[in-house]
Amino acid sequence: MSATLKPKVLFIGYGHLAKSLISKKLLKLANIHALNSKNVIKNINLKKKISNFNYDYDYIFLLIRPNIFLTFGNQFKKYLSKETLVISCMAGVKLSTIEKTLKSKKILRIMPNVMASDNKSQTHIYTKNKNLFDSKLKNILSTFGTIINVRDEDRINFATSVFGSGPAFIAYLVNVFVKASKKLAKPYNINEKEVIGLFKNVIDINKSSKMLDVFVNSISSKKGTTQAGVNYIKSQNIEKIIYTAFKRAYERAKEIDSEKKNTKS
Ligand SMILES: NC(=O)c1ccc[n+]([C@@H]2O[C@H](COP(=O)([O-])OP(=O)(O)OC[C@H]3O[C@@H](n4cnc5c(N)ncnc54)[C@H](OP(=O)(O)O)[C@@H]3O)[C@@H](O)[C@H]2O)c1
Repeated sequence: MSATLKPKVLFIGYGHLAKSLISKKLLKLANIHALNSKNVIKNINLKKKISNFNYDYDYIFLLIRPNIFLTFGNQFKKYLSKETLVISCMAGVKLSTIEKTLKSKKILRIMPNVMASDNKSQTHIYTKNKNLFDSKLKNILSTFGTIINVRDEDRINFATSVFGSGPAFIAYLVNVFVKASKKLAKPYNINEKEVIGLFKNVIDINKSSKMLDVFVNSISSKKGTTQAGVNYIKSQNIEKIIYTAFKRAYERAKEIDSEKKNTKS
């Protein structure tokens, strides 16, 4: 790849996550092509289908669902050249499985999330060979948000649970809070933006777990209103519920790779 040319990138799969990785910043840095299940390749920068193309991609992002890769993964080999670096965004599929399927050692696993479109993904990155993580790739991944390098592949499973699935858990919890407050305040037509703003304000002024503990205690005066509510929340073991949600997502990420054996048998 010439130093002055924009890198050529192929997204294999162009669904929810892939679309959220696209931003003006990314399109300025790279030429993006995207492949869908009908084998149609689109030039995302120019917003048009491609009929004649050569397989000289610098980077290929795997953005299909794990079961698609585990079943048809070897069909994607044809898009790789010797130089191509493969970046898998798939949950659960191990580096060793991707290496064997694509017959390549130039592979990284990353775990971004859908907030990449607002440059707010906290993207975890794992590779066996640190040299693969060159400055061009770093620039591309920085358009998603911040980058967190991890040394142990299992930490990608942890990131899948907390940072990949976590945004959905948080959105669900905030929504439960909004709906419950609206139910309580029904005759007064509460403005839900105010309630969502309340979440943001609490987090803005409390930047650590310790600060959050102190904050709870500072509002919970003895026999007061907050203590009545907090005691009820604690009695329902919400900690166990949230921990179990994370654990289930983590365990699910860990079992995905072995499902290839089941599909082949
Ligand atoms: N969504 C998230 O928040 C998130 C976060 C982190 C990681 N991930 C990972 O990202 C991957 C994609 O997730 P997603 O939520 O974006 O899934 P999705 O919305 O279902 O998108 C999957 C895409 O794959 C395409 N596809 C299916 N079979 C194909 C084939 N044989 N060849 C080429 N493309 C094919 C589909 O094409 P059609 O449009 O033609 O059906 C679709 O565009 C998963 O591995 C997931 O683990 C997702």
